[in-house]
Amino acid sequence: MEIDVFTLFPEAFGWFERQRHVANALAAGHHLGYVNYRDHTPLSAGQVDDTPFGGGAGMVLRVDVVEAALHARYGRDPVELGETRRVIALTPGGRLLDDALVDELAGEEALTLLSGRYEGFDQRIIEHFATDEVSIGRYVLAGGELAAMVLADAVLRKLPGALGHPDSALEESFSDALGGAPEYPHYTRPAEYRGWRVPEVLLSGHHARIREWRLQQSAARGPLS
Ligand code: ADE
Repeated sequence: MEIDVFTLFPEAFGWFERQRHVANALAAGHHLGYVNYRDHTPLSAGQVDDTPFGGGAGMVLRVDVVEAALHARYGRDPVELGETRRVIALTPGGRLLDDALVDELAGEEALTLLSGRYEGFDQRIIEHFATDEVSIGRYVLAGGELAAMVLADAVLRKLPGALGHPDSALEESFSDALGGAPEYPHYTRPAEYRGWRVPEVLLSGHHARIREWRLQQSAARGPLS
């Protein structure tokens, strides 16, 4: 998969790229690229945003700036880009990111993530360049970078080769394997700590009973609304 992140802060992704599963995915041939809107602005002095028409607080990312950045990266009119790749604008009011959407996006060949800043995007960016609007939750972040990282993290860990153990992503919280419910609880050594004992069944070595206990624990926890 190829993920391109459009942002004013590409350097913010340095830590993200060093995470094991992201590094594994990149080593396996997946690709993460960055485009800084500021590098492509047609305006003077690196301007990328402007005050909102009609008044109000904050600054809005300009449509001509985003068009120039998309055009520079893909060499075509961004209005047509949606025919070949999902172009996702990260906004607080977009479709909520959940496991089903992550699965859907993990099946794509290429994603473009548009991070907004300040008050967000000129609406024409969303209407004419984006195929999707995605939110990581109903709260407002100062910018879309953290949201882009959350989305890329969740998608990349689903790709073959990202996780140390290929089964890790199969039976986890909200997966089909658990009927969409949260995952069962995990325990590790010591088997007893301050009198808190690990459930006996997990120490029994009886795989069928362990499985049954886990599924029942998971079902008792969910599904979450
Ligand atoms: N940009 C600002 N807040 C956001 C959110 N909650 N989700 C996605 N993008 C955002």
